[in-house]
Amino acid sequence: AHADRIARLIADMSVAEKLGQMTQVAGGRQVALNSRLDAAALDRVRAGQIGSFLHVAGAEPLRDLQRVAVAESRLGIPLLFAMDVVHGYRTIFPVPLALAASFDPAVAEDAARVAAVEAAVSGLHWTFAPMIDIARDARWGRVVEGAGEDPHLGARIAVAQITGFQTADLAGRDAVLACAKHLGAYGAGMGGRDYDTADVSERTLREVYLSPFLAAAEAGVGTMMTAFNDLAGVPTTGNADLVRGILRDEWNYQGLVVSDWNAVSELIDHGAASTPAEAAALALRASVDMDMTSDTYAEHLGTALAQDPTLLPLVDQAVGRILATKARLGLFDDPYRFGDAARERTVLGSAGHRARARRAAERALVLLRNEGGVLPLRAGAKVALVGALADDARSTLGSWKARGVQEDSGTLREAMGDATFVPGVAPRSDDVSGIPAAVAAAQGADVVVLVVGEDFDHSGEARSRADITLPGSQMALIAALRVTGKPIVAVLMNGRPLALEAALEGIPAVLESWFGGNEAGPAIADALFGRSNPAGRLPMGMPRTGGQLPLFYAHPPTGRPANPDLTVDSARYHDTEIGPLFPFGHGLSYARFTYADLAVDTQADRQQARYTVTCAVTNDGAVAGDEVVQLYVRAPVAGLARPGRELRGFVRLPLAPGQTRRVSFTLTSDQFAHWADQGWQVAAGRVELMVGASSADIRLTGALAVPQAYALPASAL
Ligand code: IFM
Repeated sequence: AHADRIARLIADMSVAEKLGQMTQVAGGRQVALNSRLDAAALDRVRAGQIGSFLHVAGAEPLRDLQRVAVAESRLGIPLLFAMDVVHGYRTIFPVPLALAASFDPAVAEDAARVAAVEAAVSGLHWTFAPMIDIARDARWGRVVEGAGEDPHLGARIAVAQITGFQTADLAGRDAVLACAKHLGAYGAGMGGRDYDTADVSERTLREVYLSPFLAAAEAGVGTMMTAFNDLAGVPTTGNADLVRGILRDEWNYQGLVVSDWNAVSELIDHGAASTPAEAAALALRASVDMDMTSDTYAEHLGTALAQDPTLLPLVDQAVGRILATKARLGLFDDPYRFGDAARERTVLGSAGHRARARRAAERALVLLRNEGGVLPLRAGAKVALVGALADDARSTLGSWKARGVQEDSGTLREAMGDATFVPGVAPRSDDVSGIPAAVAAAQGADVVVLVVGEDFDHSGEARSRADITLPGSQMALIAALRVTGKPIVAVLMNGRPLALEAALEGIPAVLESWFGGNEAGPAIADALFGRSNPAGRLPMGMPRTGGQLPLFYAHPPTGRPANPDLTVDSARYHDTEIGPLFPFGHGLSYARFTYADLAVDTQADRQQARYTVTCAVTNDGAVAGDEVVQLYVRAPVAGLARPGRELRGFVRLPLAPGQTRRVSFTLTSDQFAHWADQGWQVAAGRVELMVGASSADIRLTGALAVPQAYALPASAL
C-alpha cells in the first residue's frame, strides 16, 4: 500500500517539491536548538521545499512543526527530524570509543536503546549515529566517536548500536532511524587530519574500511551518510563508484543516503565540480538522496535537470527512497507518533536510564597497568586526588552530548568522598602555580590518584592533534608528584589513545576511564576501591609516541621483522620500540585467568567449511571478574601478505573465583577471505589460530584447514 502511495505522490509532485524532499535544513545551532525555526523556514515548509530538519528537538516544538508540513503544505508529506544522538540524548553514556572498550556489544546496544527511547519521546526520528569509521591514527579527533582500529570489533559494535537505535521493527514505538557514517574511508584521512584525503588500496578499503558498512547494510541500517573527504581523489559525496556502484549495485542497499553537512556544495571546494549545478549532478549520480544544509539540490539541481533530463529518473529514485523511509517509520500513518510531551518529562534522565549508564561506564573501564597490587585501594587509605579533570563534569560528557547537561554528571571528586582534592593544573593550561599544593597533598597521603588526559573539547570533530602527549603542564605535575615517592594511580580521561610512555614511567597503576558519561565518577571510584572489577579492553592500541602513527596490530609481516639487536635489515625504530605501549585488546583485572585445552571441530561437507573452536578459561584469582577471550587467526598463504593476526571472535566471560567455563567460537571459511581480482577469495590451506587475552598476549595456539579454495561474490562478506 505504501509503495502505491509513494508512486502516486511522486507522480503528483512538481520538480520543486521533489527537490524539497531532498533538502535537509538546520533547525538550530548546536548551542540553540530549534533557533532557526523562524517564519521564513515555516514558509519553506508550507511550500514543500524542505524534507527534513536537523538539530531540532523537543516533543512540543516538533509537533507544531510537523503540523505545518502535514496540514499546511499542498501534499502534506511529513518531515523527518534528525539530530546527532551519539551516546545518549539526556542520559549520557560513555563516548562510543569507550563503549567499544567494553568488548560487550550488549552494552553498546543498550546505550543506543536508551538514547533512542529518549530521542523518540522528544520527537526525533533519526540519529546520525553510529559512526563506524575504522581509525588507526589517534591524531584524528573523531576516533572518540568510533569503535577503534579493528573491523571485526567495529562491525560487531556497529550492528549492536544499529539494533539498539532501530530495534527489530523500525515502526515500533521508541525506535529511531540509525545512520551508518561516514561512508568511504573517512577514518583514513592522511596525517590524522580531519576531512583530509584518504588513499587506500581497493583491498584495504574492502577488508578494513568498508567491512563495518557492509555489516550495517546487512543489519538493515535505515540510512547512511557520505563522508567529507575524498578517496583517492574522488570526493565521497560525488563518488559514483563507491556509493552507487558498491553500496547500491553490489550490496543492494535501498536505504536513504544523506550527505554530510554542506558536503554537496563542497564538491566545488574539492575541485570536483566547477558550478553548483555540476556539484548537484555529481552527488545525485552518486545516489546521494538528501543534501544536508547546502541547499545545492534545492537551488541548483533544477538547472542540472534542465541541461540533462536523463537525471530526472535519478531524482525520482532518491525521492522514492526518502518517502519509503518516512513510510517505514510509520509517519504516513501517524505523523505525530514520535514525541510525547507528558512522557518526555518522566523518561529523560530517568533513574532506570541512569542505572544503565552506570553499568556501561563501569564496563568501559580498562585497567592498563597494576604493578605490586596498588589497586584496588585499601578501604580507609588516605588518598590525595589530584588533577582538575577529576572535578570536570563537562568533560565526562565528551563530544556530541545532545541534550546532556553537566549538572547531571557525578565527578570523581564527588565520588571519592573524603579524599583530599587538589586540582594541580588544568588540562590545557601552562599555569604551574597549583603544583606545590598538589605535592603537599601527596606528601600527606598514602596514595595519589592522579587524573590526567584531555578535556572534552580536545577530542571530536575538527579536533586533530599533531602531538598526542599530555597537553599543558600535566607532565610537570607528574614530575613533581613522582619526587614525593608516593605510589601513584593514574586515571586517564581522554577521547583517543594518547602517547603516554614518558608520562606513565614509574607509575605503577593506570586506569583508562575515557569520557564516561553521567556516571563516570561513581564508576571510576567503584573500580579504584575494588567494588567493581575492571574488564574493558583497548579498542585501539596506545602508542608509545605519536611518531608510531598510524598504528594497528593487524599488520602483514615483513621479510625483515623488527629486531632491536640489528642496525640493518630490521623493521625497527632506532629511537623507540616498534610495538605499542599497550596493545589492541589489552586490559587487566583484579582476578587472574588461565587458558587451557584448545580444540577445533571441523565440518567440511560443503564448499564453506564450518569450525567450532573451544577452550577452557579459569578464574584463578580471589575475586569475581570478566575475562575478554579473543580469537585471532592468520589466514592461509595465498600469494600475498595477509595480516599476521586478525580478530575473528571475542567474548566477555564472567567467572567466579575458581570457576572454569568453556568458550566456544564459530567460524566459517568465508571469514578467511581476502579481496583480490574484484572479489572475495578463500584460499585453501592452514589457518593459524591464536586465543588469548590481547592481540599481544596469546595463550593458546592451534590450526585448522580450509579444504578447498573458492570465490565469493563482492557482496558476500
Ligand atoms: O552527523 C554530523 C557529521 O558526523 C559531521 N558533520 C555534521 C553532521 C550533522 O551534525
